[in-house]
Amino acid sequence: MGFLETCSSTPMALNLNLFHFYIFVLVACFTCPIVCISSHERSQAALFVFGDSLFDPGNNNYINTTTEFQANWWPYGESFFKYPTGRFSDGRLIPDFIAEYANLPLIPSYFEIDKQHFVHGVNFASGGAGCLVETHRGFVIDLKTQLKYFKNVVKLLKKKVGARESKQILSNAVYIFSAGGNDYLAPFSSTNLTTPYPDREYLQMIMGNLTSVLKGIYKEGGRKFVMLNMVPVDRLPNIQALNLQKGVKNGDFIKKITSLVKMHNSGLPEMLKQLEKQLPGFKYTLFNLFKVFSESIDNPTKYGFKTSTTACCGTGPFRGIYTCGGKRQVKEYKLCKNVKDNLFFDSFHPSELAYKQYAELLWNGTPDVVAPYNLRSFFELST
Ligand SMILES: *[C@@H]1O[C@H](CO)[C@@H](O)[C@H](O)[C@H]1NC(C)=O
Ligand SMILES: *[C@@H]1O[C@H](CO)[C@@H](O)[C@H](O)[C@H]1NC(C)=O
Ligand SMILES: *[C@@H]1O[C@H](CO)[C@@H](O)[C@H](O)[C@H]1NC(C)=O
Repeated sequence: MGFLETCSSTPMALNLNLFHFYIFVLVACFTCPIVCISSHERSQAALFVFGDSLFDPGNNNYINTTTEFQANWWPYGESFFKYPTGRFSDGRLIPDFIAEYANLPLIPSYFEIDKQHFVHGVNFASGGAGCLVETHRGFVIDLKTQLKYFKNVVKLLKKKVGARESKQILSNAVYIFSAGGNDYLAPFSSTNLTTPYPDREYLQMIMGNLTSVLKGIYKEGGRKFVMLNMVPVDRLPNIQALNLQKGVKNGDFIKKITSLVKMHNSGLPEMLKQLEKQLPGFKYTLFNLFKVFSESIDNPTKYGFKTSTTACCGTGPFRGIYTCGGKRQVKEYKLCKNVKDNLFFDSFHPSELAYKQYAELLWNGTPDVVAPYNLRSFFELST
């Protein structure tokens, strides 16, 4: 900008160096815009976010659903935003921290892009959503619909910045996913431990649908994909509380869930390797959230927490009954005094402080937790 101003206010000075002066101005005018634009583009890869409640910034505030799939009331948001945004935590989530580390603004919810800039990315995630349309059907935005919304954004982007620049934005962008957990949890109830299909077949369906969505984004020009694997679902306060309830034989329930998580987490890298073989230029990185989550539950004090078994907000054993705030079925709930003491904010979801530590590992971590790239290098990766 400074150089351009110099260009337009070229003094009419008459001196012997006039010629050199003009040369200098000319060079400055030509180099500045090029340098500025290219470095700008390199440092600003956009971030598109897909998946479930681990990533939902408040998309479910805008759909017709039940309170089970919403978190837009107090005390959600109490630590950072100071008002309930719809995030299922007391503050920021992993994508919020990643955006910060990548020098991006907060990535807006899909339903707010008419009010906010979306050239830095959009968040489509929906609490309760899975890879299958059956998962909490009618109450969430399933992954297939998230892809449809992404395609709407691509159209808007082309209109806004033109075909050439939108192509560049889309291929440079990072696409991050947290998906699958709800597909395995949704069919369970306290008395029924049956998945709707044999386990292997169910996994194939989930991977198949996830693959279709990744291919859909690839077709629009997306190249850089980040996957989170599934957390140790059996250790969530809600599942621990459910396990205590009558009607479930102790052990069976936990054993069943543990084996599904294991199956999913070994299927995920296979699926990604296949896609890498099939699709030229397809790049991915996989975050072992299972590992870092397990470690933080095993060593709460190392991560700065007093407890990793009891949620901050909820009721019943482990505060594992899913109620936090006045809008859910159980009106009475307990809230811890110091939210920094608890790894879990509610009976399913980590607190902001836990998310921050996971996000740091995703951004900066070593190959035992994020491979083949951490996000710091993945953002820099040229396509
Ligand atoms: C929302 O869902 C409820 C229950 O399924 C239904 O009765 C109502 O008409 C829906 N409202 C809208 C605006 O779709
Ligand atoms: C248990 O769930 C499965 C799959 O959702 C269903 O097919 C089956 O009928 C259920 N069994 C009982 C006893 O409710
Ligand atoms: C996607 O899931 C549906 C069930 O929702 C299933 O019928 C279909 O076969 C799956 N697609 C793939 C490619 O696996």
